[in-house]
Amino acid sequence: MNYENIMEAASYLKTKFTATPKIGLILGSGLGVLADEIENPVKIPYNEIPNFPVSTVEGHAGQLVFGLLKGANVVAMQGRFHFYEGYSLDKVTAPVRVMKELGVETLIVTNAAGGINESFQAGDLMLLTDHINNMGTNPLIGPNDDKFGVRFPDMSESYDIKLRNMAKKCAKELNIKLQEGVYVGNTGPSYETPAEVRALRTLGGDAVGMSTVPEVIIAKHAGLKVLGISCISNMAAGILDQPLSHDEVIETTDRVRANFLNLVKNIVENIQKSN
Ligand code: HPA
Repeated sequence: MNYENIMEAASYLKTKFTATPKIGLILGSGLGVLADEIENPVKIPYNEIPNFPVSTVEGHAGQLVFGLLKGANVVAMQGRFHFYEGYSLDKVTAPVRVMKELGVETLIVTNAAGGINESFQAGDLMLLTDHINNMGTNPLIGPNDDKFGVRFPDMSESYDIKLRNMAKKCAKELNIKLQEGVYVGNTGPSYETPAEVRALRTLGGDAVGMSTVPEVIIAKHAGLKVLGISCISNMAAGILDQPLSHDEVIETTDRVRANFLNLVKNIVENIQKSN
């Protein structure tokens, strides 16, 4: 998607929602319910947006939701695009560039992930301190358009330290347990083998999932501040004596939904107040 494609999508969206959403949210598997909490919502299905890819996977609604969350103008992606669905990383990350064009300054990315760190439990929430791109590719490969960002973006503080501290404070006030760690982005769609999980632990990973890393690379390229939260929906393969299933992922995210919603809403409120 070139600059004109992104601008065309953004221009269309600006005709539907005239306020400026300073905060963007990408809602992971089972976490899309957060968008249902947005007041005076303007919902725009992906298939209505010029140049937008269309979501396929069950459980991913596939729309942008604009409106007010805790007094802040936000835009939320209810359903994201995954590399494993066959979308190019260019398509996977295009919505981030559109958000930037809409005026978003802070991006909150969420996902379901498998716990690698053995001190974690299914149902924990984890603040991303950093990530490891284990997808074997990068969304910025190809000619660089300086209108989007620099050729070699710095990734030394991908997850904004002030936002992380704010998130920790919010979690503490709400009495919500919040783990911290490094997210490994794999392509999926097969879950990891136990050997891969041991390898990822040795590499420094605390949780593993199939998203987020491409979007965060593009967000940093675009100069956005990023906060990442994983819902540890299961322990990664080989840690517990049981097979992994997508049903477990969905069941666990359902179980921690209330905590997740409260935490993210509180963080949004705090970002809004600090602006
Ligand atoms: N591995 C990769 N992705 C995931 C997992 C997992 O264990 N759980 C949820 N998404």
